[in-house]
Amino acid sequence: MTERAHGTYAGAGTPPRLPHQQLIAVQAETLDTPRRRYGPAARLLFVTLDAIYGKKRTLSKFKVLELVARVPYQAWEQAAYIAITHVHERTGMARRIHDRVAETRGQQDNEQWHLLILDELIGKSGVSESRVKYFWIPQAIAVVYYQVSWLLFVIRPKWSYRLNADFEDHAEHEYAHLVQEHPEWEHMPFESQFTADYGTYDSLADVFRQIGHDERVHKRESEQDMTNARFR
Ligand SMILES: [Fe+2]
Ligand SMILES: [Fe+2]
Repeated sequence: MTERAHGTYAGAGTPPRLPHQQLIAVQAETLDTPRRRYGPAARLLFVTLDAIYGKKRTLSKFKVLELVARVPYQAWEQAAYIAITHVHERTGMARRIHDRVAETRGQQDNEQWHLLILDELIGKSGVSESRVKYFWIPQAIAVVYYQVSWLLFVIRPKWSYRLNADFEDHAEHEYAHLVQEHPEWEHMPFESQFTADYGTYDSLADVFRQIGHDERVHKRESEQDMTNARFR
């Protein structure tokens, strides 16, 4: 979590906000970095999403990604609260699990701003989306993904963290490419009802660079949790 040394640190599970020059550097770094070697569950998810939503990077497809992105954090939060129910008499351990809960809450909220910013942009763009394809199917995917994340976490937490690290790595790279594909966003202002929550940025391009960096931070947190997966 070296990134927390830079930018503005906003609390557990909330990635720092970076200034413009750093956002540019971070995007270039992502484009230069190979993707993780994705596991079978992550590959199945990405193939499914491409089959339903196409390979083209659209805001609507990213909205689906963000809806799904929140789910593992919800599953882990629930599992952690149950664990506290079981171990609350061991107060030191309960306290440490609580720290994990706080982190997952921050991560969930961060993903939620991503989702709401996308919803807002899609709403403003006036694009019409199929209700089945962009509302009901994503809900179904999110339910299945929640169950998979929860089950993996119960069987072996490391597997659940690994799946999420793959998901976040994919998101980080996809956002870096998305910004590259939209040079016109460099000159578009970020006008949003969520600036108080997510910050102000020089351009829409920087908002997406920031989101991409958030995904990198989430990935690194999951990679770190893979090595220290069990509550103890
Ligand atoms: Fe996200
Ligand atoms: Fe993320």
